[in-house]
Amino acid sequence: MRQPSSEHNLVTHVNPKSPISEAYRSLRTNIQFSTLDHQIRVLMVASAKSGEGKTTTITNLAVTYAQEGKKVLLIDADLRKPSLHHLFQQSNRVGLTSLLFGQHALSEVIKDTNVDNLSILPSGPIPPNPSEILGSQRMQTLLEELKDMFDIILFDTPPILAVTDSAIVSSYCDGVILVVHAGKVKKSLVAKAKSNLDHVKAKLLGVVLNNNSRTRSNDHYHYYYGGNE
Ligand SMILES: Nc1ncnc2c1ncn2[C@@H]1O[C@H](COP(=O)(O)OP(=O)(O)O)[C@@H](O)[C@H]1O
Ligand SMILES: [Mg+2]
Repeated sequence: MRQPSSEHNLVTHVNPKSPISEAYRSLRTNIQFSTLDHQIRVLMVASAKSGEGKTTTITNLAVTYAQEGKKVLLIDADLRKPSLHHLFQQSNRVGLTSLLFGQHALSEVIKDTNVDNLSILPSGPIPPNPSEILGSQRMQTLLEELKDMFDIILFDTPPILAVTDSAIVSSYCDGVILVVHAGKVKKSLVAKAKSNLDHVKAKLLGVVLNNNSRTRSNDHYHYYYGGNE
């Protein structure tokens, strides 16, 4: 997979028949089957550190849900280092934070993408107090409004060990996937990330082992059921 500097590099969008796209589809299917009792409608990908593949995974997952005909909203809740606007070549002048501060209407900030059924909500201007904003009552009300408008809502978040933001967002999610950059991140850090998620009672659905190495092109991606591996 190439550097996703724009949506033209989103493998599931440009090359839906590739084995990597197939892997993202099976991840989607595994998520669907991971809980029988309730539908997963709000989802995020967590990781211990940055660069493990959170944004790549959640974005490709968003595309596969959209390709299935679901109305999908991908929200940039990485208020420390937002990247979805780059990926989809949109402005970040307004976004989630503008909505939370009541400065703009939903229709002004939610952007269509080149992918049918997929909309994004960029982060908007970076605030001084991201954790507080993400944990606000206003955020919860907004999410309820968005759930009426979209079938699936996916959050891109910062690393779980760096700041509390992603633990806060996980409390809004029906499911959390932990992505681990295989071979690069120490086991103790992965264990710490998992215990942070357990601590806030996040519903961990499973672990994705992501291998960024470009030499093993057919073996990028493994999904483990159950989250305990
Ligand atoms: N499976 C993969 N194969 C190849 N490159 C990948 C893969 N997953 C992520 N990358 C690359 O690794 C870098 C970091 O990934 P990113 O999704 O931005 O991580 P995070 O959001 O966790 O910081 C990006 O340049 C991305 O293109
Ligand atoms: Mg990211």
